[in-house]
Amino acid sequence: MDVDHVIEVEDLRTQFGRAVVHDHLNLNVRRGEILSIVGGSGTGKTVLMRQMLGLEIPRRGTIRVLGEDLHASQSAHFDELRKRSGMLFQHGALYSALSVFDNIAQPMRELRKLPPALIRDLVYLKLHMVGISFEHAQKMPADLSGGMIKRIALARALALDPELLFLDEPTAGLDPDRSDSFVGLIQSLHQQLRLTVVMVTHDLDSLFALSSRIAVLAEKKVIVVGTPQEVVQFDHPFIQRFFLGGRGRRAMEVLSPVPYWEN
Ligand SMILES: Nc1ncnc2c1ncn2[C@@H]1O[C@H](COP(=O)(O)OP(=O)(O)O)[C@@H](O)[C@H]1O
Ligand SMILES: [Mg+2]
Repeated sequence: MDVDHVIEVEDLRTQFGRAVVHDHLNLNVRRGEILSIVGGSGTGKTVLMRQMLGLEIPRRGTIRVLGEDLHASQSAHFDELRKRSGMLFQHGALYSALSVFDNIAQPMRELRKLPPALIRDLVYLKLHMVGISFEHAQKMPADLSGGMIKRIALARALALDPELLFLDEPTAGLDPDRSDSFVGLIQSLHQQLRLTVVMVTHDLDSLFALSSRIAVLAEKKVIVVGTPQEVVQFDHPFIQRFFLGGRGRRAMEVLSPVPYWEN
């Protein structure tokens, strides 16, 4: 059976000055999955996501997104493609000078030029989807907790009803309770909206709760990609350190024999 790939990264090379970040890197993302990318700090996880979004151009290799070669596509086409992806950035998730409402409305105004009444309804719908009550709509980001900012940033990433959602360290900086509830939110949105999700995370609990597959970045490439059960058995020093410390063992105990995504 042919697997439906929504992203295909082939023979990627990324270089900044003399520093080679990726070399001969290959990775496919399947429609409807949650693919997590793990790797040491500076291994190029964020850069890889930015390349999949078309925000950065690799030195070599091809990236096909939703059937189109990102770098060969015409600019009008490229803009359309961009609207089919939403991204929750690692830092600076919201514009500090804009209210909650305007943060979510901004992509609708700038990229879709929708009428104001429709934008208003859509902003409230997105707020509802991420569990933020409407009374917060006129607040400024500085007046909100870290957990609320993540949720609103997620609402913003979903503003244009993307098919692909990119999450860069979505639970970093959240306390365990907020992190758990954010993981639950991602899980339910993934199922309800039939999203394909690409996520970078260091957090083993979110990794095991969410990932259909995990890709491990080391030695400038993806050294293994597979189900969590497959990846933890792969023999590589990074994987041993990353998964098999005390926290890793505890997180693995919650791995059920039949993961929810195969039900
Ligand atoms: N625009 C840039 N110019 C120069 N170096 C960069 C740039 N973006 C990223 N890098 C370097 O590339 C490497 C990978 O960065 P990044 O993708 O942010 O790593 P991480 O895996 O921690 O997310 C790092 O060494 C970083 O310093
Ligand atoms: Mg990063």
